[in-house]
Order: sequence, then C-alpha cells, then structure tokens
Amino acid sequence: MATSGEHLIDKNNLPQHIAFIMDGNGRWAKKRGKPRTFGHAEGAKVFERIVEKAGDIGIPHLTFYAFSTENWKRPKQEVDTIMQLLRDYLKTGFRKIEHKDVRINVIGDLTGLAPDLQEEVHKLMERTKDRKKMIVNLALNYGGRDEIVRAVKKMVEEAEGGISPEDITDAALSAHMDTYLSPDPDLIVRPSGEYRLSNFLIWQCAYAEFWFSDILWPDFSEKDLVDCILAYQGRNRRYGGV
Ligand code: FPP
Repeated sequence: MATSGEHLIDKNNLPQHIAFIMDGNGRWAKKRGKPRTFGHAEGAKVFERIVEKAGDIGIPHLTFYAFSTENWKRPKQEVDTIMQLLRDYLKTGFRKIEHKDVRINVIGDLTGLAPDLQEEVHKLMERTKDRKKMIVNLALNYGGRDEIVRAVKKMVEEAEGGISPEDITDAALSAHMDTYLSPDPDLIVRPSGEYRLSNFLIWQCAYAEFWFSDILWPDFSEKDLVDCILAYQGRNRRYGGV
C-alpha cells in the first residue's frame, strides 16, 4: 500500500544505503508506564516494518544499530531481555520480511555474544546469504572504533608475508569493515531528539547526510521513512567539491 508522499519520491535518486539508530525505546515505554524492555519489543516490530517498506520503495541496503559495545553497561535485566528478544527473532526468523529476498548480515564483534546467540547469527547469515534484493546489516555488539581496530587486525593477519604501507588504502580498509557488502551509507537517520553518532559507522559516514527528529523509534512510521527519503532528495551533495 502506498504511503502518503511516496509518489513524490524520485526513483532515479534513491539513497542506496540508509542507516538507522533505533533510539528512544526506553522513553517511549516509560511514557506509557511500561518497562523499558516493552519499548525494545515494539522497536523490533518497527525494524521489520521499515525493512519491508524500504524494500517496496527500492532501497537496496539498510543498516540498523540494535546493540552497541557500550550497551553492556545497562542493567543486567535490560541487557538479558534485549538478548532474549534477539534470540527469539533470530531463531524464528523475521516473519514480515522472511519472503522478501533480504540477506541479513550481522555486524559487530560477534565473539562477544553468548555462544548460542553466535550460532543463531551464523545460521541466519548462512540461510539468507543467496538473497539478492536487499542487504540488511544488523549491528550487534557493534562499535565503530572497535570495527576499525578489527579491520586493521584482519588486514595484518591476512598479509602473512607482512604488510607494507602501500597496502594500507582507503579501499582496503573498507573491504575489511563489517559492512563490506554495502556501499557507504548515503543517509543516517537518528530519531529521539539526540544529535550524535554514538560510535555508529564512523568510518563509513564520511559523506553521509543526516536526518534527525524527535520521534521515538517505536513511533517511527513508514511515512517518516518517506519523509527522510524526500529530505535526502532535497539535499545538494558536493563531496567536498563545489
Ligand atoms: C536504544 O533506545 C535502543 C537500544 C539500545 C536497543 C535497540 C534494540 C531493539 C530495537 C531491538 C532490536 C531487535 C531486533 C530483532 C532488530 P534506548 O533504550 O536508549 O531508549 P532511550 O534513549 O529512550 O532510553
């Protein structure tokens, strides 16, 4: 079903990669007198709705920040509930998008996850690896600085004969990032009234456009997705030129 404003989208100028910081779940739940974890459960449903809509519009790459390397500092009960939510989704699949030809690439330091969760992550990535329409990067135990450090380590480990300065290039580093399947994001979407990147895709964001809003993630709708694509299409991207 078409969303209001969708007909205004220029299909020849679509962002090829949109990345979302799914923020504001806790506040959304608190406003309703519910535990924070209720907001995360609702946020997961919005994740699926936005993947589905972005696919219908024709956006080929998406990234979602679900759990950062810093989020372990939260109360144990909240961390456990988020991990259980992820476990449930990974096991049963993402029902709404299961038949949408979506490849799921989990990014972040997977070795920091519980062993059974690591296994589910690998199974999901393997099961969806031949899907072609869209790539969805799901960031779990992800930190941008940590990703850069791991990318450099991977380069050094692979270059068994030693690495020379000329091997260290922009392209080589990008190819060793967790997001190697996707081009750099064109648009970063951060709802919930915060104006920061929070260690998200800091290498890949060099020329990204930003879209901020006070909307809390569980309230983020298909119409908001259309609005941020339209806002993006109104931007003049110069990449340092004139
Ligand atoms: C930030 O909101 C949200 C998180 C740290 C967790 C996000 C996780 C999900 C939406 C679940 C993902 C699950 C799947 C299956 C994709 P916050 O808790 O910082 O909210 P606040 O700023 O209002 O406190």
